[in-house]
Amino acid sequence: MEKRIMAKRRAKLSAAFSTSSGKYFVGDVVKLLRTGALKRYEGKVQLIVTSPPFPLNLKKSYGNLTGDSYLKWFTELAPLLTKLLKPTGSVVIEIGNAWESSRPVQSLLPLKALIGFLESKGSNLRLCQEFICYNPSRLPSPAAWVTTRRIRAVDSYTHIWWMAKNNFPKANNRRVLRPYSKKMQALLKTGKFNSGERPSHHWISETAFLKDCGGSISHNLLEMDPLDPDREVRLPNAFSFSNTSSNDYFSRECKKRKITPHPARMPMGLAAFFVQFLTTSGDLVFDPFGGTNTTGYVAERLRRKWLTTEISRSYLSQAKLRFTDPALKKRKKK
Ligand SMILES: C[S@@+](CC[C@H](N)C(=O)[O-])C[C@H]1O[C@@H](n2cnc3c(N)ncnc32)[C@H](O)[C@@H]1O
Repeated sequence: MEKRIMAKRRAKLSAAFSTSSGKYFVGDVVKLLRTGALKRYEGKVQLIVTSPPFPLNLKKSYGNLTGDSYLKWFTELAPLLTKLLKPTGSVVIEIGNAWESSRPVQSLLPLKALIGFLESKGSNLRLCQEFICYNPSRLPSPAAWVTTRRIRAVDSYTHIWWMAKNNFPKANNRRVLRPYSKKMQALLKTGKFNSGERPSHHWISETAFLKDCGGSISHNLLEMDPLDPDREVRLPNAFSFSNTSSNDYFSRECKKRKITPHPARMPMGLAAFFVQFLTTSGDLVFDPFGGTNTTGYVAERLRRKWLTTEISRSYLSQAKLRFTDPALKKRKKK
């Protein structure tokens, strides 16, 4: 594209919404990146965390590509996005499963998309770790096979791939500890446990469990909601992981104002987990598929800087609504 036109587009871009810590742009992220409209952020982003449009077979109300065109679009996005990253930066992508339209067969497209993204030419990415986000409250789907014919199990998790340009991206699991189990709390109190070899051949030393490290190390299976409210679920010390969040500030305000909330919001706890795990105060966090700006809101609460792009202007009012949350005024310095 001609240099003059690109420069004009760059100059024209102004945020639809901003705070002192972040900016929300309305526009197609691919176009914004290709025209250089986000050039000023190149090499400055510590974390890209996002839930892109899923590769579904049926179009959702916010629109999405399907099949090979999704794959091509998603793969080509990788080098454009990674240009924005700092050398120690990370990309975290959440993608759910998909099913073929007329048979009870799981689509390979989400996995192909993740591999395509990871191996996309020019992106120089590696998979640091896969996380599974298990949501026991997920409604049975696809209904035809799960509830009607009863020949498939409920699809109840999303894949989260943490990728980076470097083998040692900025990360610290001490920032996302889980509370100790009751058993471990008792053990720390009494100092008594069985040391020695376990059946798994792990060797447990006599002092292994005597030091209180403030919590246990998070697992890569993130459970969103307890199915049984009496069962202990030890979620990391990020915001609550619940996505049924019918009682969070955003959902209450949407209800009060008769707003239909975005159909595919990212669970706040999930964004908070990765923001805390992979960044520190003052770092820049980017969500290219921002929707209601869950990521920006979480970043603001955790005193990070944020940048959001979203193709549809219709979610702007919901993104703004999040920032009327009184919890933002009460946030602690980290
Ligand atoms: C799964 S939703 C993400 C929702 C968001 N995480 C939240 O919590 O509200 C995907 C979003 O990507 C947006 N989107 C789709 N294609 C886009 C594009 N090319 N550029 C920017 N945003 C896009 C959709 O409008 C939708 O809001």
